Amino acid sequence: MSSKIESLWRQAMKTFAGHRGSGFKLCQKNLEKLRLLMNEITSDDVKVDKKVLEYVENQRAPMCVIDIFENQDITIAIFLLKHGVTLPMHDHPGMHGLLKVINGTVKIDSVTTQIPQGRVIQLDEELTALRHASQIVQANDPACVLTPHDHNFHEISCLKGPAAFLDILSPPYDVDLDERQRSIRPCTFFRQIAQEQTNGPEGAPVKVRLLAVVQPPLFYSTNLKYLGPPLR
Ligand SMILES: [Fe+2]
Repeated sequence: MSSKIESLWRQAMKTFAGHRGSGFKLCQKNLEKLRLLMNEITSDDVKVDKKVLEYVENQRAPMCVIDIFENQDITIAIFLLKHGVTLPMHDHPGMHGLLKVINGTVKIDSVTTQIPQGRVIQLDEELTALRHASQIVQANDPACVLTPHDHNFHEISCLKGPAAFLDILSPPYDVDLDERQRSIRPCTFFRQIAQEQTNGPEGAPVKVRLLAVVQPPLFYSTNLKYLGPPLR
């Protein structure tokens, strides 16, 4: 019998097969099936146990990453944030993403901004975006979904740590570390530089200005080995 992570991996491959190429059409039924499988995943299913969590909290890096799988269409990884750490606001150019918290509690602050397909954001560029109300998410909550045009940037703060979340992204980031200009889908970080004063109802999206910045120097990560069931 397949493990739960293996079934999830197969469904992710099916849902996003060919996403990197042009003319891909996402099947909403497949995405919904993937989301339901993702909702079922726990820390036990990927062997993020007490020992791993203790290690994360006691090592130096603010964040640890466990790479599970990557091909040209999808990336599956687990991100682990130490207590009190914030993964700074970043984008997911042209991507779909699913995020399932499997340990701890996080606050997700997302914005929606419209970026034409394939346009790479330059450093120091300013963007207008709509900031959504913060979401507090923990291990028994369903997976959060982002799309290329909705909730497509986010900042994730660990309120009760260490926090761990499983992430599926499609297509993967494509980062040329030597020369950012050559990347098709780099990960860009942002800082909020202005927020519109509003008298709108509480929880309604607020207009903000974001500035594309270099990766905040105090934020870095280290890699840990995946200990869960093999994908085959
Ligand atoms: Fe993200």
